[in-house]
Amino acid sequence: MIASAASSALAVDGDAQRAAMAYFEKEVRPILVKRCFECHSDTKQKGGLRVDHIGYLKSGGDTGPALVPGKPEESALIEAVRYANEDFQMPPKGKLPDAEIAVLERWIQTGAAWPEDAAKKIVVTEGGFTAEQRNYWFFQPVKIAAPPQVESAWVRNDIDRFVAQKQVELKLSPAPEADRHELVRRVYFDLHGLPPTIAQLDAFVQDQDPLAYEKLVDELLASPRYGERWAQHWLDLVRYAESDGYNQDAYRQHVWPYGTTSSNRSTMTSPTTSLSASRSRVTRSPGGSERAHRHRVFASSGL
Ligand code: HEC
Repeated sequence: MIASAASSALAVDGDAQRAAMAYFEKEVRPILVKRCFECHSDTKQKGGLRVDHIGYLKSGGDTGPALVPGKPEESALIEAVRYANEDFQMPPKGKLPDAEIAVLERWIQTGAAWPEDAAKKIVVTEGGFTAEQRNYWFFQPVKIAAPPQVESAWVRNDIDRFVAQKQVELKLSPAPEADRHELVRRVYFDLHGLPPTIAQLDAFVQDQDPLAYEKLVDELLASPRYGERWAQHWLDLVRYAESDGYNQDAYRQHVWPYGTTSSNRSTMTSPTTSLSASRSRVTRSPGGSERAHRHRVFASSGL
């Protein structure tokens, strides 16, 4: 059984690789973290060994390699956890349960899979960013990409084509299309954070207009409920609170208009940058009128 698991995990097949990674993350890494990190990771390297990286395990500690992929019998790590040698027992304070030893044996037997990203040496470049952070999609220049040519029954536009291509790559089959009841609930939850009332649900389900969905989205975007939904995140960000909370509670009388303003602005689809600019403006404005004072209270009371 172990032999067949070994050959499939070592195969280049994507499914097997994903399964090996999942096994590592679910079964193996937690054992290393819980049982070995205390003495063998970034802060301490007893015996010169770190176990938080496959590279360290392969190069090993003071007495040589701790792990040979595919060969548990030649791996010092396995010798140590089996407690076979009286002078070399890991973890020193007590033998691991047999099930955990079996997990480590199987992992090494099947090739000691370790996620690529974590196995790469992390190099910090100018400005303190790693190459991985620099490659994040958000920081890439905008470019025109030709939509992939995929044939799929549900595909209606170019964005769908990108999604469909990923589904093919990951061997996923799409879920069935939502019916009108499901659709109207989803759109209300997405935009207002609440389900539609029965009347709102019926109105959409029975609307014969071919643009009924577009109309509904426009209507929900224009609603104050939409503003409240997004203002909630903004208010969390600035730590808005109408009281001190807990045991020294005091009510902040003048703070509520800040919440209302945030909600109204979100409805007007004001970008967060303008909310944040106006916040710092009012925070910095010098004293004077009652109005300015109130503004400062709104702005700073959230912080
Ligand atoms: C409480 C501390 C402690 C914990 C926990 C611990 N070790 Fe160790 N380990 C040591 C010490 C100390 C040495 C060096 C002295 C020795 O060989 O006994 C060592 C040495 C080793 C070596 C030999 C390194 C070399 O090249 O000399 C291996 C392999 C090893 N440990 C594996 C493990 C594994 C795997 C775990 C987790 C299952 C683990 N250790 C947990 C303290 C610890």
